[in-house]
Amino acid sequence: MASLTSAADESPDVYEDRFNTIVYNGVVALGIGLGQRVGLFKALTDLSGPQTSQKLQTILDYMKDKIRTVLDIGCGVGKLTASIANYFPDAKVVGIDVDSYAIETAIKLKEDNHLTNVEFYLHGADNLTEEWTKSFDWIIMFRVFHDLPNPDPCLRESIRVMKDDGVMTFLDNLGHSNPKLNGGNKPLAATLMVSCYMCLPCSLSAPPAVGNGIGWGLENRAVYIRENGLIIHDNELVECIHCSKATL
Ligand SMILES: C[S@@+](CC[C@H](N)C(=O)[O-])C[C@H]1O[C@@H](n2cnc3c(N)ncnc32)[C@H](O)[C@@H]1O
Repeated sequence: MASLTSAADESPDVYEDRFNTIVYNGVVALGIGLGQRVGLFKALTDLSGPQTSQKLQTILDYMKDKIRTVLDIGCGVGKLTASIANYFPDAKVVGIDVDSYAIETAIKLKEDNHLTNVEFYLHGADNLTEEWTKSFDWIIMFRVFHDLPNPDPCLRESIRVMKDDGVMTFLDNLGHSNPKLNGGNKPLAATLMVSCYMCLPCSLSAPPAVGNGIGWGLENRAVYIRENGLIIHDNELVECIHCSKATL
């Protein structure tokens, strides 16, 4: 009798390909189904639209007179980094990311827009360039910190490369660390679902696999940041916080 599977079916490549297809189709179907039910699509539109630019404007106003050097850690495809470079034409802006597609896209964005004050590097946050010690006025981590499987080296290195009077800004789309306090927050429910497929696997992807994701929450992030050498300005229980070195 003919075998139902051939040797080719069992090769690792075919298996991986099928696995990826099944997972991808499953996630798309689940995303569409649940997205419509819980208002995910509207929530995502809201989150990535005016609120983000409003947050950015607040930060830019806050930092206006202080900026000479900026480091964007986990810059992705560089859109925000390029906006910052445009906003501060006299500043030197650097974007780093571990993803090669992101950095290639960011470099193309820089070239297409003839930006001369921004550089993009394929580089992880765990081991920053030695010459950068105490050289950045402003370090930003937008939607990155809660994704990390081990935030310790990233935070330690960021503090090393920040000037003593520099500012570090974190933006993480978090709710409260105690899930009971998040009841009724529909946009957060939608974000939590996305986090299960994106942030959480990222944060579990290497030792020590802290598994933070969106569920980490504002309170836990604040405690972690304070216990690791920074003080937080103003309200620490908001998505976007500004910090400076605790020991000056
Ligand atoms: C959700 S994206 C945010 C991109 C951008 N900051 C924004 O707000 O549009 C997170 C980015 O962090 C990058 N990333 C994750 N771990 C990193 C690490 N250890 N060092 C540098 N970049 C990292 C990912 O490759 C990804 O591009």
